[in-house]
Amino acid sequence: VHWTAEEKQLITTAWSKVDVATLGGDALACLLIVFPWTRRLFTHFGDLSSPAAISSNPKIKAHGHKVLASFGEAIKNLDKVKDTFAKLSELHCDKLHVDPVNFRLLGEVLITLMAAHFGKEFTPAYHHAFHKLAGVVAHALARRYH
Ligand code: HEM
Repeated sequence: VHWTAEEKQLITTAWSKVDVATLGGDALACLLIVFPWTRRLFTHFGDLSSPAAISSNPKIKAHGHKVLASFGEAIKNLDKVKDTFAKLSELHCDKLHVDPVNFRLLGEVLITLMAAHFGKEFTPAYHHAFHKLAGVVAHALARRYH
C-alpha cells in the first residue's frame, strides 16, 4: 500500500490521543457483544454470558489492551505491516484458525468507538485513514491464508 503524508499524519495524530488500554478493552468487549460468534475463541477467559459480564471481565480488558498495543506497532511500521504481523498471522491462521472476516469486524468496532470518542473531530478524512489502516492490518493478519 501507499500512504500519503496526510494519511500518516491523521493516523499518528489520532493515535497519540487514544488511551490504548481503555479503547482496547472496550473494542474487544464490543466485538464479543456485537458479533457473538467471536466469543467461541475466548471461552477460557471466564464469564462472557452477558454484555455486562463481558465489559467487566478483566481478562477481556487485558487482552484488548494487548491487541490494541499491537495495532500501535502497525502504526509505527506503516510501510511494513505485513512483516510486522508475520508471527501474529501464523498464530491467528495456523493455530487459532480465526475466520479472517473477524479481523475486519474488529476494525469496524475500533472505528465506531473512535468516532464516538472523538465526535466531530473524527472527520471523514480520519475515518478514511483508519478504515484503510484496519484493512491493511486485517490483510496482514490473514496473510497465512492467502
Ligand atoms: C491473541 C492481536 C484480531 C483472537 C492475540 C495476541 C495479539 C493479537 C497481539 C497475543 C499474542 C501473544 O500472546 O503472543 C490481534 C490483532 C487483531 C486481532 C492486532 C486485529 C485485527 C483477533 C480476532 C480474533 C482474535 C478478530 C477472534 C475473533 C485471538 C485469540 C488469541 C489472540 C483467541 C489468543 C488469546 C489467548 O488465549 O491468550 N491477538 N488480534 N484476534 N487473538 Fe488476536
